[in-house]
Amino acid sequence: MGTVVWHVTMSLDGFIAAPDDAMDWVFESWGGPSETANEVIATTGAILMGRRTYEVEDRDRAGIYGGAWTGPIFVLTHEPPDDEPDWLTGTFVDEPIEAAVARAREAARGKNVGILGASVARQCLEQSLVDEIVVHLAPVLLGDGIRLFELPGGRRIRLERTHVSRTAGLTDLRFRVGDDSKEAA
Ligand SMILES: NC(=O)c1ccc[n+]([C@@H]2O[C@H](COP(=O)([O-])OP(=O)(O)OC[C@H]3O[C@@H](n4cnc5c(N)ncnc54)[C@H](OP(=O)(O)O)[C@@H]3O)[C@@H](O)[C@H]2O)c1
Repeated sequence: MGTVVWHVTMSLDGFIAAPDDAMDWVFESWGGPSETANEVIATTGAILMGRRTYEVEDRDRAGIYGGAWTGPIFVLTHEPPDDEPDWLTGTFVDEPIEAAVARAREAARGKNVGILGASVARQCLEQSLVDEIVVHLAPVLLGDGIRLFELPGGRRIRLERTHVSRTAGLTDLRFRVGDDSKEAA
């Protein structure tokens, strides 16, 4: 069975989006192909994300992973829109995170479920639904924006580093989410 993988690009100061959802720093940082990203894309069978991430994708119109990936996409929102854009090969869902992950797992047909964005990932982590975190560390400081992980009161989730590599502009890091935090949930 596939795993649940949170795939994210993060600035050195821990942001996944700059103010106003600016994502230009991500594209500037890449500078070339990433074996890690290619592997994640190839092993992803379905994607789950929140409406805000979807809106940025819709704004840029480049498709998921710049069109490098196609498959079932589930967008969480409390207010599903009437019209879905042509490129969106998935659907809007309004349901608890466990149900959304179960839906994505089924759609992934044995491949991995990719989680995009901070809010959905936080909800998944709170419910111990994430197996792996893949981070592309970008050589930039943003100062403000959306934090990788923010939970009032804090929560310690132990991770095991399983991979480190360098691509053109990025440092790729992979972590397995610790079993102890899963047991504590
Ligand atoms: N650096 C990266 O790798 C990366 C990756 C992905 C995204 N991003 C960026 O991160 C930003 C998105 O931030 P985010 O992760 O905080 O927001 P998000 O998850 O993309 O969107 C939040 C919205 O999703 C909906 N939602 C989330 N959980 C829900 C649930 N359980 N049930 C129903 N609806 C739910 C709600 O939409 P409604 O308000 O419609 O109810 C909520 O306002 C964007 O700027 C995006 O470009 C960066």
